[in-house]
Amino acid sequence: MRIDVVSIFPEYLAPLELSLIGKARQDGLLELNVHDLRTFTTDKHRTVDDTPYGGGAGMVMKPEPWAQALESVAKPSEGAKPVLIVPSPAGERFNQALAYELAEEEQLVFACGRYEGIDERVIEWAQEHFTVRPMSLGDYVLNGGEVAVLAMVEAIGRLLPGVVGNPESLVEESHSDGLLEYPVYTKPSAWRDYDVPAVLLSGNHGKIAQWRRHEQFRRTSERRPDLLAEFDAGSLSRADRNAL
Ligand code: ADE
Repeated sequence: MRIDVVSIFPEYLAPLELSLIGKARQDGLLELNVHDLRTFTTDKHRTVDDTPYGGGAGMVMKPEPWAQALESVAKPSEGAKPVLIVPSPAGERFNQALAYELAEEEQLVFACGRYEGIDERVIEWAQEHFTVRPMSLGDYVLNGGEVAVLAMVEAIGRLLPGVVGNPESLVEESHSDGLLEYPVYTKPSAWRDYDVPAVLLSGNHGKIAQWRRHEQFRRTSERRPDLLAEFDAGSLSRADRNAL
């Protein structure tokens, strides 16, 4: 997969050189390029923003530098349009299902807006060249798209083949099956006043699986009842019904 990120703060994306994503880049599993929007300006002051039409607080990002930047990074393959992700609190909510979907794409381009956002005509124009997906990390406002890109690139990048050493760990984690993950413990089995649940020391794999599934349902109903409401009851196995 190829990922291009356009930002006026390219240094913000430096953490993508670390850890699993950094290693995936070194190993050639992921090509990731960060571009400075200001290199696509033509004036002496490298201006990227201006006052909003209609008045109001703050500044709006000018369309032409964005068009220049996006045209230069788009690499359509066999007629398929790359996906342009525009992080915004006004976007569709990003989640694990979308991470899986986007991990299948050849190229993702992230356009990091700042200030009050990017001139809306860029979003309309970009549809000629990209599949455009405005996306939100959650119902709160960040100062710009960069932090959202860090989160989305990590969530998507770790799903690429070979990035996570043991792919089984992707199967049992939160959101992979619509439920939250069960709690985990390690040695020592007795720590301060707290013991590891006895079933995990029993060696009975059937009982352990049942306990873990029960904990998934318990946690999800306690912390995220909205997820449980969406959970497809038809997909409950007999073992699930026992765990409930
Ligand atoms: N930019 C500003 N706030 C954001 C959010 N909640 N999600 C994605 N991008 C954003």
